[in-house]
Amino acid sequence: MSLPRLLAILLCTSATLIAQVVSSPLKIEVRRALPAEDAPQQPTMPDTATLTRVLPANRKSVYSRCETTLPLIAITFDDGPDPVLTPRLLDLLKQRGIHATFFLVGKNAAAFPEVVHRIVEEGHEVGNHSWSHPLLTQLSQESVESQLRRTHDAILKGCGTAPLLYRPPYGAVRVSQRTRIEKTFGYPAILWDVDPQDWQHPRSAQKVYDRIHNQTRPGSIILCHDIHETTVAAMPATLDDLTARGFRFATVTQLIAYTTPPEIMGPPAPTPLPPKPLADPQSDTIGKDTAKSDEKNREKKVQSN
Ligand code: NI
Repeated sequence: MSLPRLLAILLCTSATLIAQVVSSPLKIEVRRALPAEDAPQQPTMPDTATLTRVLPANRKSVYSRCETTLPLIAITFDDGPDPVLTPRLLDLLKQRGIHATFFLVGKNAAAFPEVVHRIVEEGHEVGNHSWSHPLLTQLSQESVESQLRRTHDAILKGCGTAPLLYRPPYGAVRVSQRTRIEKTFGYPAILWDVDPQDWQHPRSAQKVYDRIHNQTRPGSIILCHDIHETTVAAMPATLDDLTARGFRFATVTQLIAYTTPPEIMGPPAPTPLPPKPLADPQSDTIGKDTAKSDEKNREKKVQSN
């Protein structure tokens, strides 16, 4: 290759390179730390040990889950207590520091009060699940109240703590029954949004694990039954999976209380004014002056509210 030709090629190549550099925009990443006060406030996960266990006054009447973006959930166990399986489950929960909610059938609670006592003593919540697990929609209002009253009393006798919640058997209750139950017992109705269908045959621990794994999301209420061996057998892997994925367990009352927005209060009532003094019969101006000054005081108070 001749020298002029070589120079020409080199010149061309350099020109192309320079053109590419000039035409391609420089990629400069600008990172600016947000001042602390401008940074979006991310809610932090509460310590479930310190969450209140009192239902807020402005709670709803029915829950199948709670609204939250935090991975806070409640796991519930129905139809017990069982004299063998419930203590086995309590051991598993204790080892993991997890608190659950047990919806107890009254006749089982009356038969095994020591298990009811242990449930509450270890920090779990107890709810009312009727005396003998009937379909409430087929019962008279008197029978429904009797079912819940007997269970309420059996739970109270077993553990000294009154239930704050109920779950209708099969999740079925008429609106009129629900309204009456809420008025009589103060209970909200607790349903669920995660159902592993752990009662269905053929029963398998793997099926329970898979369904809970797939359906659980922040604010979920998980339905399980601690009267089935396969359900209790599924719990170590299921609880460890949920915990590893960042979920934290609260009781149902704690979940409701934590996720209920603060009550919206109306404007405060105006301060009552002191009674007007009786007009002096000898001077008809005193009463009028007092009335005017009361009027001014009232204006001031309204403004300051
Ligand atoms: Ni049930």
